Formats: sequence, structure tokens, C-alpha cells
Amino acid sequence: MKLVTIASLLLMMFWSCAEKREESYVIGFSQCTGDDEWRKAMLDGMQRELAFHSNAQLIYRDAHASSSLQVKQIDELLQSGIDLLVVSPNEADPVTPIVEKAYKQGTPVVVVDRRTSSPYFTAYVGGDNYQVGKTVGDYAASLLGGKGEIIEITGLPRSSPASDRHRGFTDALAGRPGMRRVATLNGQWEKEIAKAELKKVLRNHPNLDLIFAQNEVMAMGAREICNQLLPDRKIRVIGVDGLPGQFGDIQMVFDGHITATALYPTGGEEAIRVAMNILRKQPFQKENLLQTAIIDSSNVRMIKMQTDKMIAQQNDIERQQVRIDEQLEIYRTQRGLLFVMTGLFIISIILGSVALYSLKENKKINRELNSKNQEIMIQRNRIQDIAEKAQEATESKFRFFTNISHEFRTPLTLILGPIEELLRQKNESPAARKNLGLVQKNAQRLLWLVNQLMDFRKIESGKIRLQVSANDMVAFIRELMLPFDHMAKKRRIDFRLMTTIPELDVWFDRDMMDKVLFNLLSNAFKFTADWGHIYIHISRRDDAVVIKVEDNGVGMSDADMAGAFEMFYQGKNSSKGTGLGLPLSREFVELHQGTIEAESKKSEGAAFIVTLPLGNEHFKPEDLADFTRQQHTEPVSRISAPAEPETEPIATNADMPTVVIIEDNEELLAFVAGIMQPIYQVITATDGKSGLDQCFDSVPDLIICDVMLPVMDGLQVTGTLKSDMRTSHIPVILLTAKNAPEQQIEGMQAKADMYITKPFSPQFLVESTKSLLANRILLKAAQLGKAVGDAEAGISRLDKKFLNDLRAAILARLADPDLTVESLGKELGLSRVQLFRKTKALLGGGTNDLILNLRLDKACTLLQNPDLTIAEIADQTGFTSQSYFSTVFKARFGVSPKDWRTVRS
Ligand code: FRU
Repeated sequence: MKLVTIASLLLMMFWSCAEKREESYVIGFSQCTGDDEWRKAMLDGMQRELAFHSNAQLIYRDAHASSSLQVKQIDELLQSGIDLLVVSPNEADPVTPIVEKAYKQGTPVVVVDRRTSSPYFTAYVGGDNYQVGKTVGDYAASLLGGKGEIIEITGLPRSSPASDRHRGFTDALAGRPGMRRVATLNGQWEKEIAKAELKKVLRNHPNLDLIFAQNEVMAMGAREICNQLLPDRKIRVIGVDGLPGQFGDIQMVFDGHITATALYPTGGEEAIRVAMNILRKQPFQKENLLQTAIIDSSNVRMIKMQTDKMIAQQNDIERQQVRIDEQLEIYRTQRGLLFVMTGLFIISIILGSVALYSLKENKKINRELNSKNQEIMIQRNRIQDIAEKAQEATESKFRFFTNISHEFRTPLTLILGPIEELLRQKNESPAARKNLGLVQKNAQRLLWLVNQLMDFRKIESGKIRLQVSANDMVAFIRELMLPFDHMAKKRRIDFRLMTTIPELDVWFDRDMMDKVLFNLLSNAFKFTADWGHIYIHISRRDDAVVIKVEDNGVGMSDADMAGAFEMFYQGKNSSKGTGLGLPLSREFVELHQGTIEAESKKSEGAAFIVTLPLGNEHFKPEDLADFTRQQHTEPVSRISAPAEPETEPIATNADMPTVVIIEDNEELLAFVAGIMQPIYQVITATDGKSGLDQCFDSVPDLIICDVMLPVMDGLQVTGTLKSDMRTSHIPVILLTAKNAPEQQIEGMQAKADMYITKPFSPQFLVESTKSLLANRILLKAAQLGKAVGDAEAGISRLDKKFLNDLRAAILARLADPDLTVESLGKELGLSRVQLFRKTKALLGGGTNDLILNLRLDKACTLLQNPDLTIAEIADQTGFTSQSYFSTVFKARFGVSPKDWRTVRS
């Protein structure tokens, strides 16, 4: 703010230093004629005076000796709004009315030189014309000694100088009878007119002594005529005006052309001085008469010197005036510049002050904002901390639930597995079987709840994935109803499927829909009294299938209905439930782009309606199920009912295939081992590393391996086994509590042959192992005796390479009778047992069988060559004797080598 004050002071100083501007004035000047030197001198005088009054402007009009034009010009000047009129009337009477008008309308009028005929003017400036005439008359009288003939040439008779001068001259002659005016001529102030008039009369006055011409131009004209007409006569000529300069009448007097002249000042300077006084409202005189004097040979030298000097000085003054004007212009420009710069300076100071002020304010606001931001940040951090803690708490809760669920699944497997076994063996008494059934049912329920919790975890973490396939919905529901039939019958519940649709293809995730419908049916049975009914309706509506599970149980209140699909909602009647089933069902249905709704009235039963869109266009490509995987996994929500085991011949222990089971839970390990014991030789390990060693040592027929293992996890174990030539052929079943599809895929990527999730059905496990081995046997049958490449399907690249290497090694040493499994194994980097088992696993026979087969194949080829003897062939194929060769050959082909050759040739 201080700066603004300084700026204001500067501005004020600037103003005070600046020139005080006066009011400006416009002066209109009406000149009767501007053509002669005298009038030009008058205008010069005015201009000189005006130079001292920069606030006054002069508008000049020349009437060219025309009174009417002068009237018109004055009128125009008045209309243009002049502040003062200076007028030198051409003739008094014609110009008087317009001057009076100006005066009367309030425009001050300064009359110069010639007068008007009325007193209505503000001031008069001019010579005393009467005195001029009188002075000239007196001078002429003294010059002629009071006796002589005189001609007077006047100006315009109706102009005041002409009449006043005439009057003065007449009065001077009045008392001198010797002075005779012989003629008075009207020269109208003009040289040529004066000359013409004089020419007319001059010869009539041969005794003429003197001519009085009322102005200098007429005097000049008179001298010319005199010289022209009467060159011998010395006629004296007296003029008026006394104009200085080269062409003025002073010069003429000086040169002796005319006798004398009467000084008649123009009054230009005086007229402007008086006008300015009037305009500035300063005192002035109305009558300003200028004095006259005679200039003749007696004083002309001095006067000429003075006037010349004056002219020179005036020229100097004019030059100086020009310089002053230039300086003034420079001064004005500089002052303007200074003014602009001062203005700019002030504006910049103001802007600077505003900017400084804004900066200060901004800083203040910024500080406030910063502190507010800080507060907000602190609060946000606090909220973030709280949220993180809450998130952590929730996460740890979920982790706890998930972990505990995982933990539950293994013991549940251990409960359900033995029960299944016991129930299958049918050794127990009916009462014990009933109790076992009860245990089984409750363990299954527990498992079901655990699975629900885990499903929720998956939904929460967004990890759940749809795996939809086209299924007949009617058959699916019928299948789903089966486990409930028994209960329905026992409780006399009318349990029926009501539909007119024989079959309907619907795309859905079997596992999820199984859970949804199983949950709805469980609820229906839970809340329906004995002798009640539960109906399942299947119908089609537009492009959707509608499945309605309806009962006439206790029903739900409106409040229960509103909260039925909310997580952990516990209605009055759902005290037996967890509050998880329906929300989970809704999530599953909505994943299918379907809807689930409840209809119910208290005590009037309930209906749950599931609507699923038909077709599969509403699913993403990744939602569509991988058919193979569906084949390998079984629903985890429920455990299939125990079925009768496939009878199988009891094998002797040594013949039985070997299985390595790797499982860190010793109880589960013992349980799985127990299941496998009757049909396999079982080798066990409790961590990944020792399991892997066992596999390398024993080269088993099958490996069952848990995924989550200490030291080395199941995926690593599988990967190592499958990339090692010794074990790459062995089928691996991965067994784990984890049932996320991604982990199953990971397992498959590690080249596991099968993935079975816990809890599993013991029978399913047994059947799976059998199936895997049976497939291997089929493969071996296809492989046996064939070169690799003929039946490559099902064998890994590593195994193909192994077989190729093995065959190449045998063929290279076929003639060597000392070719043994040991030496072959050494060559291939395998122990005898490993080589034997691998060959057996891949080809179904031992290494010796392979050597023998290859020897016999070669022998067959050689037998086609008639040049070779049987003994030579036996020798070339590594048989120690011909008889042994023949025996073996016959055992293989049914004919002796000799007969074979005969038949073939
Ligand atoms: C100029 C002039 C002067 C004379 C005056 C009278 O126009 O003729 O010579 O003195 O006018 O008004």
C-alpha cells in the first residue's frame, strides 16, 4: 500500500508541474481586404501578438474588398461559435448590421482601422484618421507656403478613414485661402483606380502643386501618373501609412519618389491585446486611438533605420518563435511521453502492489490450505490405518476361516473314508450301521458347511470361476433328488418333480448348480413337517428356464424374506442354518446371469424360484468348461454314495503293482495306504524330498502325492519325476485339499496325470489308480514289439527318447552274447532295477524280453538271406548256440528257424 501512496504523490506532483491550462479561445478575424502590404503587416502584427497566447486561435477571413462577401463571412464565423470577432469593415454602412448582431448576441467585437456606423461594438483600435488628414493638410500648407493647387485622392468614401481623413484635411485647408483644392478624386484605396482617376483630370491642372493620396498605394500610383503626364512639373505627393520595408512608402520617401507620408499604424498587435483582455475579462479601453506623424526627408533616414532594424528584429523574433515552437513541440512530446511513462509507472506500481498483495494473500491462503491439507492427510491416514486394520482383521478372519476349513477337510476325509469303508464291508450289525450312517450323514453335513465357507472365501476374493457346460436340466434335477428320496419316504413327504418338459439343455456349472439346488432342497426338507409336500417345478419362460422349489412348510415372515439372501442373516426359523446357503446360492445364480427369488407367507410354505437364461451367449469364453477337466474332477460338495467295489482277483504281493504315497498328514497317509494295501505294494513318504527319493529308488507303477508338502511341494515333485528319464513314465495322482481350478491347472501343467481333491471318496481314488494303470497296460499292448513312433500316443517325449536310446544300444550290441541288463543300464545311466521297471512300465515286459525280441526280429531278417546258415544267424544275433536259438525261435513263432525260412522263401 505504501507504494500506491508514493505513486499517487508522484502523480500529483506531475500534475502540479504541468502547465496550467487556460481556457482556450477562438477569435474570428474578418479583414476587408488582405491583398495589400499594409493589411499583411496588420495580420503579421496580430500573429506576433498571438504567439504569446497559446490558448487563442485565430480564424482569418479575407473579403477581397467586397462588403457583401464580408457580411456573409462574418455570419459564418458567428455560426461557427467564435468567442470574439475582430473586424475591419470594408464599408461602414453595409457591414454595420452584422457587427451589431454579433455584439447584441453577446460576441465581443473589436473593430480595427475602419469603423462601423453604430456604437454597437466592444472596442475600437486604429489610427486617428481625422488627425491624419489634419496633419497632412497642415504639412502641405507649410510646404507650399500657404499657396498652391492641390488634388485629394480619397479611399472608399463610405469607409470611415476616407471620410475622417478628408474631414481633417478640409479643416486644415479651411483657414488658408491660398491653398486651393482643385479636385477630389475617389481612388477607392486602390492604386490602379487612383491612377485612372488622376489621369482623367491631371492635364486640366497644369499648375498643380501637390497631390494628397489617402494611402501609400494611391500615392505611388499618383507619382507614376505625374511622371507619365507631367514629367517636367515638380508636383509634390503626400501619402498615408508609413509602411516600412523595401516596397513600403517610407522607402519611397527615402528614395524621393514621394514627398512625405503620414504614419498610420496597422494596430494588429494592439487589436489582439485588447481582444485578449476582453476575453479574459480584464480591463480594456473602448477607444484605442493610435498616433500619427509626418515622415519626410527630414526624418526619413532615422525612421528608415529604425524600421529596418525593427524588421530585422521582427525576423529574429520570428525565427526565435519558430525555434520556440519547435522547442514547445519537443516539450509537448516529451511531456506527453513523460505523462505516458508516469502513467505506466503508476500503473505498474499499482499492478505490482496488487500482485504483491495477491502474492501475500496467496501465500496466506496456501498456508491455510496446506495446514488444512495436512489435517486432511492426517485424518485420511488415520482412516486409511483404520481401514487397513479393519481390512487386515477381516482378512485374518477370512484366513482363519479358510485355514480352519482346510484343516477340517482332512479330518473329515479321515472320518468319512473309514465310515465308507465300514459301510461297504457290511460287517457291522444293523444298529452299528445305523450309527455309522448317522456319523456319515453328520460328517457330510459338516463337510458341506466347510465347503460353503470356502466357497464364500473364493467369492470374496473374486477367485471363483464359472465352468459351464450344456446339461439336461431335467435329468440333472432328477439325479439331484435321488439322495432325498429316502428321507421323503421316511417322513411321508410328497416329494415330486412336476414338469411337462422331458429334457432341456441348459448351460450351467454343474458344481455350482448342484450346490444351489441341494441347498434349496435341504432347506425345504428342514422346514417342511412330516406328511407335507415338496414340489420341484421346471418350466420355460421366454429364453429362460424357471426352477421352482416349493414346500408347504413353516414359511417365512416378510422380514425373514427380506433378509433371506443376506450374508449371515439368521431368521427366526433358520436357527438351524448358518445364513450362508441362500446368499451363496444367490451369488452362484447371479454368476450365471440368473435370478433367485423367494415367495412365502408365514405358515403357508415357501417357494424359491431360480431363473437361468438359456443358451451360452451370455457367458464369457473362459466360463465355458474344459471337458477333460470335468471328467477328472468330481463334485466336492457331496460324497458319492458308497457303491459295491469291483471284484478283482487277489494278486500275490510280488505281482502287485507298486504305489508310492507321499502325504505329510500321517493319519491320512495311513488311511490312503490302508485303502491301497489290498491291491498294491505300498511305499510311503511324509515329505516331498524323501518321496522323490523313494520314487527314484523303487521306480513304482504309480505315485499318489499331496500338493502341500514340507521340504518340496507336490508340484515340484511331479515336475522332477516327469522330467527324469527314470520316472517320467510313472502316472502321478495329485491329492490335495485345495480345489481351486488354478491349482488343478498348475498340477496338470506339472504333467500330473490326475488331480483328486480332498475329501475324496476312497473308492474313487482306488478306481482312479486302477483306471490309470489299465490305460498304461493298453498302451503297452500297443507298444510292445513296435518301434517307437508307431504308437506314440500317451508316451512323453522323454520316454520316447529313452525307448529309442534303449533300442539303439541293444541293436548296436545284438551279436554280443554278453549283452546284459546291467551293462545296458550302465550305458543308459540306470540301475538294473530301474531299467527293468522302466522297460516293463513302458513296454509291459522286462529288458531281457526286449533284447530277445530284437534278436529274433533281426534273425527273421537274416533268415531271408539264403547265403547265411542257421548257425551263422544264431551267432550274428548273439545266441550262444544254434540249438538255444532254435528253441527260443520256436517258442516265439511256433516254427523252427529252418521251417520259417522254407515257408517264407
Ligand atoms: C489599406 C488601406 C491603407 C489605409 C487604410 C484605410 O487597405 O488602404 O492604406 O490607410 O486602408 O482604411
